[in-house]
Amino acid sequence: MQDSQDTIAVIGTGVIGTGWIIRFLFNKKKVKVFDPSKKQKKFLLNEIKRTSKTLERFYAKKINLEKQLFFCNSVQEAVKNAGLIQENAPENEKLKTKVIKDISLSAPKSAIIASSSSGLLPSKIQAQAKNPERVLIAHPFNPVYLLPLVELVPGKKTTKANILKANRFYSKIGMKTLTLKKELPGYLSDRLQESMWRESLHIINEGYASTKDLDDAIIYGPGLRWSLMGTFLTFHLAGGESGMKHMLEQFGPALKLPWTKLKAPKLTDNLKKKIIQGTKIQSKNKSIENLSNLRDNFLIDLQKLLKKYKV
Ligand SMILES: NC(=O)c1ccc[n+]([C@@H]2O[C@H](COP(=O)([O-])OP(=O)(O)OC[C@H]3O[C@@H](n4cnc5c(N)ncnc54)[C@H](O)[C@@H]3O)[C@@H](O)[C@H]2O)c1
Repeated sequence: MQDSQDTIAVIGTGVIGTGWIIRFLFNKKKVKVFDPSKKQKKFLLNEIKRTSKTLERFYAKKINLEKQLFFCNSVQEAVKNAGLIQENAPENEKLKTKVIKDISLSAPKSAIIASSSSGLLPSKIQAQAKNPERVLIAHPFNPVYLLPLVELVPGKKTTKANILKANRFYSKIGMKTLTLKKELPGYLSDRLQESMWRESLHIINEGYASTKDLDDAIIYGPGLRWSLMGTFLTFHLAGGESGMKHMLEQFGPALKLPWTKLKAPKLTDNLKKKIIQGTKIQSKNKSIENLSNLRDNFLIDLQKLLKKYKV
């Protein structure tokens, strides 16, 4: 059974590890989990409880915790007999390299070892692994149990066969896989998100707008379009009858204007305070749990619309 991807190990059960576990459970996988912090068990069980009603509707399935979820006391115990291991330790190259190495020493030789890293280079974190050809990045988006995108990034030693194997696995559990031709820091989506994040921090830092103004600038305009089309197709439509050609003629010169800064500002105490207070006001004292439920239901409705109108 070593090759079976019916048994999955999840190492690190914070926000992302927990999201993966819930997606795996709804896809009828047996999931063995390990986190060095004992308090994560409560967080995971609470998240399963919080999301179960909504997700039973979305997946049209129920999970059976007793038969599917197993808490382990070590990496070694968790990865034994697993067909795929999803690593979700904190984003730190040195730590992840060590965790991936530990996983690789005990995992079945044929098991895929996938890191959820948001931007680290797979060649770096596979460097000390045993059989590094099966180590790759599978970068998901929060909440993992609802958002389909997963970026698959090969390291220099990752084989094509293992990327294909991972691709099949994630596709089967309802995900939209995006395989990068070669590794680059930040991959694709986080590079795009990060450019907006950096620009937003400059705008706050220089006092042009509040955190709410900047969120509204996305929510009521570009964000609605982005749910259906990305930047390129959206801008193609911005060019009228001639599409992208006219768009480039009209807005091409703006590329030379000082519209964006992109180099991140220094994260001073003052800037941190503005952002933390701003988002606190925006959340109207709603708990993270309450906001997560709102987000989850919104994402379900939006995905129904996306299916209906997709070009
Ligand atoms: N939060 C996001 O939106 C997001 C999205 C995509 C990918 N990621 C990536 O997922 C990974 C985890 O991020 P997160 O947001 O879940 O962080 P988190 O802080 O919520 O969780 C990290 C977990 O790792 C555990 N941990 C600490 N040391 C460990 C070790 N040595 N071995 C195993 N587990 C260990 C912690 O106890 C904690 O439960 C990071 O690589 C991050 O970049 C995060």
